[in-house]
Order: sequence, then structure tokens, then C-alpha cells
Amino acid sequence: MTEILITGNHGQLGKATQRLATARGISVSGSDIDTLDITDAGQVEDWIGLHKPRTLINCAAFTAVDDCEEHEVEAEAINGTAVGHLADSCRRHGARLIHVSTDYVFDGMGSRPYRESDEIGPTSAYGRTKLVGEQMAAKAPNHLIVRTAWLYGFGGRNFVEAIRRQIEGGTEDLRVVADQHGCPTFCDDLATAMLDLAEKDACGIVHAVNAGNTTWHGFASEITRLLGSSIPVLPVGTEAFPRPAPRPAYSVLDTTRLQTILSRPMPTWQGALARYMDNTCAG
Ligand SMILES: NC(=O)c1ccc[n+]([C@@H]2O[C@H](COP(=O)([O-])OP(=O)(O)OC[C@H]3O[C@@H](n4cnc5c(N)ncnc54)[C@H](OP(=O)(O)O)[C@@H]3O)[C@@H](O)[C@H]2O)c1
Repeated sequence: MTEILITGNHGQLGKATQRLATARGISVSGSDIDTLDITDAGQVEDWIGLHKPRTLINCAAFTAVDDCEEHEVEAEAINGTAVGHLADSCRRHGARLIHVSTDYVFDGMGSRPYRESDEIGPTSAYGRTKLVGEQMAAKAPNHLIVRTAWLYGFGGRNFVEAIRRQIEGGTEDLRVVADQHGCPTFCDDLATAMLDLAEKDACGIVHAVNAGNTTWHGFASEITRLLGSSIPVLPVGTEAFPRPAPRPAYSVLDTTRLQTILSRPMPTWQGALARYMDNTCAG
């Protein structure tokens, strides 16, 4: 029997989760769209029926936030309806479903860290489709919804790599949004937390992000510093980068419940970023 199944294991979080589960000696199997399209209920049922896992961790998603505005139906099929297929099959085979969700289910107008019980109100198509996913995940009798934010991980398309590319490309300065607040989160730390949560049979909704918070400008400044670069990082407002999807101004998640379950705080975002950079910087 496979202990843990992972969907979306070519993505940055799925990859980290599979690597860290394997390192713990857990029997783990992963898939991505080339081997299992989660929008296909028959494929999902066959795959879960074959492996009969104790836990399924769903890291598969349509994550291109701006594209969701024009392709909401397609995004909802992956982020919403497909999660229902996973939940149905988990129920039939007695598996626990751990489903990854997002800060975008909130309206981003808050002024203190969002708790699991706070009112939701997504303002983007991505957020709406992820909220449908939460509702679908809750159909599994044994489910855990893990809301996270601002992810970066090895081999992923993410903000850290975008900043690194600009610096290595010789840009003279960086202009970065300074009026959106959130919690940069290293996929390895999130994956570790999810594996610990699985061991502890946690259920319901839990917020999981690295400790502390900053703005994209603060995040970029720390990346630049760790790269040893002295190029200016200039703060700009959200209006400087018009985007199809609205971005939350305030996306900080409260992790009190996570800390209580795990009996430990999450690592700080600065320490996590330093660990990531140590392992991705050439030389
Ligand atoms: N990235 C963030 O900042 C962030 C923030 C908050 C929450 N999250 C959530 O965290 C989770 C993991 O995100 P991530 O950054 O690791 O995403 P990612 O790197 O984009 O990985 C998602 C993976 O899912 C695959 N996928 C897409 N459609 C699929 C389908 N129909 N069947 C099977 N696999 C499919 C993707 O394949 P393709 O690449 O070929 O499409 C990709 O390999 C997602 O639930 C996301 O919503 C992410």
C-alpha cells in the first residue's frame, strides 16, 4: 500500500513534498498531468483505487492567476470540480485528502492576519475557483485544507527566480510593489508542515506560511541582499503594474492553529529564503 499519493508532483510544491516524504522513508507515489489528469474522474478513481493511499496530497492546480480571469471555466475544472473527483474517490477508498488552497480566498482588505474562521470573499477568478476547490475538498469525510501564500521552491516559476533573472540580466534597478503585504513561503517548509499535519491526523482548515510578513518590495530587497547585489530596489504602488487579476493588498495569514497542532512555530521567511538561496546560488 502507498502511504502518500501526490498530485501535481512536477510543480514546485508537489516536487518538494515528494522529495521530503521520500527522505522520511514514507512510501510515496506522485503524478502530474502527463500521467493523471485530475479533471478525469475515471482516471482519478482508477489511480486512487490502485494505490489505496492513507493520504492524498493535492498539489495540482491551475496557478496562472492572471490567465484565470479569461479562462475561469478551465481553471474551475482543475481548481474546483476536479477536487470533487479527488474527494469522492478518497471517500470511497477511506483515504484522507490534504488539499492546498490560498490566501486569495480572502478579499485582501484586512488589517490583521487572517484566521481560518474569517469571512472569505475572493475578488479574482483564481480565488473563486480555489474557493470552489475548498468546498469540494470538504466532501471528503477526512479532509484537511491547507491555505498558503507567496510560494517559492526548487525548480519552480516564482518571484525569487524572477528577481534573480532580472539581476543576472544586468538590470540597473528593480521597481517592486510596496503596498501589498503577505508571507513569503518556502515550499520545503510548507511540505514539512503538511507531512507533520498528516502524521497528526489534523483536519479542517489550517493556515500554513513562513513566520513574519513583508511586502513584495521587502521580499525583493532581501533576495537582492542575499545575492550580494547593490542595485537599487525602488518601491512602487500596485498601480505601477496593472494586471488582469486584482491582487490582495493584505494577505497575511494567522498560523496560530498550525503552531498549536505542530507544537512549534514555522521558520521565519528570512531564514527560509536564506536556506533556499544557499541551495540555488551557483558557486
Ligand atoms: N504559487 C503560489 O504562490 C501559491 C500561493 C498560494 C497557494 N498556492 C497553491 O499551492 C498549490 C501548489 O502550487 P505550486 O506553486 O506548486 O503550483 P505549480 O508549480 O504551478 O504546480 C501545479 C502543478 O499542477 C499541474 N496540473 C495542472 N493541471 C493539472 C491537471 N488537470 N491534472 C494534474 N496536474 C495538473 C501543473 O502542470 P502544468 O504546469 O503542466 O500546468 C503543475 O505541474 C496549488 O494548489 C496552488 O493553488 C500556490
